[in-house]
Amino acid sequence: MKILVLNGPNLNLLGVREPGIYGSQSLDDILAALGRIAEDLGVALSSLQSNHEGVLIDRIHQARSESVQGIILNPGGLTHTSVALRDAISAVGIDTVEVHLSNVHAREEFRRHSLIAPVALGQISGFGAQGYELALRALAGRRK
Ligand code: DQA
Repeated sequence: MKILVLNGPNLNLLGVREPGIYGSQSLDDILAALGRIAEDLGVALSSLQSNHEGVLIDRIHQARSESVQGIILNPGGLTHTSVALRDAISAVGIDTVEVHLSNVHAREEFRRHSLIAPVALGQISGFGAQGYELALRALAGRRK
């Protein structure tokens, strides 16, 4: 089973970016730990972080031709603004779990609305880096 992990804008700064909110682990740390769990689950992980909406959309399109069966997506700030990213997910029809390190519902009002959530299988928010693991286990459990 192939799963793609996509991280959007500013998530390259994890570890230094507002650690009180997003934790002290870097994205590389998070992905390394996730990779070990994926190996145990027999899942092939690929990942991309980009600060550019179009790059994320191109990667989602490419996932279709690679028979990727699940996407773990932390869209960062694009969660709250990007119709185009949402359309890409519904266009490819790949099971997608939306992940946020912070509890977006307990923060500013504008973070409570996700354009992605209606086209995702579900949303995991507020469990820090563990959210990626929960998403991985959820997708792996749906393996056909
Ligand atoms: C985030 C929450 C978003 O509101 C924010 O813009 C981010 C990170 C999170 O992981 O908690 O960049 O997606």
